[in-house]
Amino acid sequence: MRNEDSSVQATFNGIARRYDVMNRLMTLGSHQRWCREIATLATSRPGHHYLDLATGTGVIARAIREQRPSGAVIGADFSESMLDVARQLDGNAGIDWQFADAHELPFEDNKFDGVTHGYLLRNVSDLDLVLNEQFRVLKPGGVVAALESSPPSGIFSPVICLGMRVVIPTLGTIIGRDRPAYQYLVDSTLGFLTPEALRRRFELAGFEDVRVKSRFLGTNMIWTARKPG
Ligand SMILES: C[S@@+](CC[C@H](N)C(=O)[O-])C[C@H]1O[C@@H](n2cnc3c(N)ncnc32)[C@H](O)[C@@H]1O
Repeated sequence: MRNEDSSVQATFNGIARRYDVMNRLMTLGSHQRWCREIATLATSRPGHHYLDLATGTGVIARAIREQRPSGAVIGADFSESMLDVARQLDGNAGIDWQFADAHELPFEDNKFDGVTHGYLLRNVSDLDLVLNEQFRVLKPGGVVAALESSPPSGIFSPVICLGMRVVIPTLGTIIGRDRPAYQYLVDSTLGFLTPEALRRRFELAGFEDVRVKSRFLGTNMIWTARKPG
């Protein structure tokens, strides 16, 4: 694993216990709803096998199981502390929690009907490899659905950026008790690819029908893309 990824892994191991409460505060309670939306998009066609990558505390994995009660769902992450929290929460029936690095998925080709992830791509050292891996493990015709943060654009973006720079590290200090981790969140979001650039990377990995919907003043995006077939 590269140094950048080890440092991200340590960051998430450090904030796992307070992750959900911080997420609820930072999205004003919208995160759960977006995760249900991701699950609906990933299960839009008949299927049985689903992978939620960077599952964290498993919100998207649980939403998939709610929508596909007979589905086989894997929730994978490279933070053991996040997986420990996921395992202790209710609603885990039918979900297999596994350690996995998104750069090197331990799954065979063409296995999953749907792959999901929430807030993964801004954290990885090799985004193209991560998208190639998702493409590889999806069945032809399978869908990837993802929630990603995004640098704000438009006339209000200076105000939104300022708000993010002030509010998130402050909440991270008081509630999350780890200011550097939440400073990293702001920096990695503001430094992340624009939606236009990320669309090209999905297409470069071979995906088609790449769609994006903006949420929360353009700071969050819901992506879907399909593997041809
Ligand atoms: C911001 S959390 C998101 C958790 C969850 N998806 C959600 O929406 O609440 C990002 C997660 O990505 C995981 N992650 C980051 N890089 C990863 C990688 N290379 N492989 C696997 N998981 C990774 C972290 O451990 C962390 O749990």
